[in-house]
Amino acid sequence: MFADKLNEIREALTFDDVLLTPMRSPVDPVEIDVSSLVSRHIRVKTPVVSSPMDTVTEADMAIAMARNGGIGIIHRNLTANAQSQMISKVKREESIKIRNVHTIEPETSIADAREIMRSKNIAGMPVISNDKLVGIVTRRDIEFVGEGKKFVSEIMIKDVIYARDEIDIEDAKQVLYKNRIEKLPLIDSNGRVVGLITAKDIITRKNFPSASRDEEGQLLVGAAIGPFDIERAITLEKAGADLIVIDTAHAHNEKVMNAIKKLRKAVTVDLIGGNIATKEAAEDLIALEVDGIRVGIGPGSICTTRVIAGVGVPQITAISDVAEVAIKHGVPVIADGGVRFSGDIVKAIAAGADTVMLGSLLAGTDESPGTEMIMNGRKYKSYRGMGSMGVMRTGISDRYGKISSTKYVAEGIEGAVPYRGKIEDVLFQLVGGMKSGMGYVGAPNIDTLRKKGKFIKITANGLRENHPHDVRIVSEPPNYQMYQV
Ligand code: XMP
Repeated sequence: MFADKLNEIREALTFDDVLLTPMRSPVDPVEIDVSSLVSRHIRVKTPVVSSPMDTVTEADMAIAMARNGGIGIIHRNLTANAQSQMISKVKREESIKIRNVHTIEPETSIADAREIMRSKNIAGMPVISNDKLVGIVTRRDIEFVGEGKKFVSEIMIKDVIYARDEIDIEDAKQVLYKNRIEKLPLIDSNGRVVGLITAKDIITRKNFPSASRDEEGQLLVGAAIGPFDIERAITLEKAGADLIVIDTAHAHNEKVMNAIKKLRKAVTVDLIGGNIATKEAAEDLIALEVDGIRVGIGPGSICTTRVIAGVGVPQITAISDVAEVAIKHGVPVIADGGVRFSGDIVKAIAAGADTVMLGSLLAGTDESPGTEMIMNGRKYKSYRGMGSMGVMRTGISDRYGKISSTKYVAEGIEGAVPYRGKIEDVLFQLVGGMKSGMGYVGAPNIDTLRKKGKFIKITANGLRENHPHDVRIVSEPPNYQMYQV
């Protein structure tokens, strides 16, 4: 019985154990399409998701990720209220037509109007009287107000230019341009203000043509919840989250699966279940009608699960096992953890993933919430596991097995990663590397890479050969040097 356990033992592989073989290729890397599904209903142009960790994804990261074609998942180590405010911030950052427009009345004092604009960070408001549009007031009118003026009615522009809500964006652009105005209120057939188009939004859209947006033109964003937090899930859905990630270290736990069943009934947005690493777990999660699966038990840079618990599955094997099941049901797979180079993303997708989730590669960017520090003359940003002592003591402690109510057994460490500049530049390098890999394999898109990519297993000597060797590096390119800690 015990001897058989070892006789039947299976070999499992991770990123450094394999390479993809180059293949005859009709593909020009410039024309490669890397768009992919994060979940059943959410497609992104860049197959990268930022991890729900408190040193990785808050509103700024989610905005930057979505603008650059990926998506961010806001972490859950904060109150449901604070988390939903972050979701709202991302959703309001851009839109084609702003809904829930902030309006003001002519009788409002200029001092109050100034305060509203400041606190809500808006540059102009339609003025409404008896439900009808009677003017518009901008920050400029309010800041440069003449002596003796007290009320909005005295400074608002009265012959306000507006349009019907049905106007399309091209016509709206013409109206804004011809009239040299920044804001166009939209009204319904009863003359009520139901939307607003701004020149700023139109310009931003042009600057980020590959952004991940919903049909209202708002940036896509996800949020993490603990499996037993149905109320939080409902709050986040109301705040506008496009998908919800059920954030546990072991989703193939019966209590967690029962909770997922309840969550499924409580919200209608896409639900991503995880983490898991086996075929059996994939079957069980898919039976609970999740819309996506997050794969990875212990591959993360800050994880100690494998050494503390002795459990895990090397990531390339975990991805391919789960994807084998998921593809039959049309459920997208997120490969979560352990990605250090763009080549790892290509390998993860060839093993069956639809997208990858990144922590350490994004934690060092300007947009992450981590703290900056200098060590040995070099700039770093803090990065810590969500199962680290620091997180468990001050916040969530249900992600990793909570064994006692007073003491914690950590499954992650607290550390720092090199400062890496802007998300935009990091993603540019990652996507560039992916496209190069897809060119070698002859894959014009993600689906072909998943189906066509062929692995070979390498030895320790092969791995040594992979990296620069036998030279002293004097100038490192950004996509290599930036990952060296
Ligand atoms: P990378 O390698 O991108 O991994 O830094 C990020 C992923 O690691 C997972 N994670 C943890 N795993 N203990 C763990 O075992 C932890 O404390 C921990 N914190 C995060 C998580 O899946 C994340 O996306």
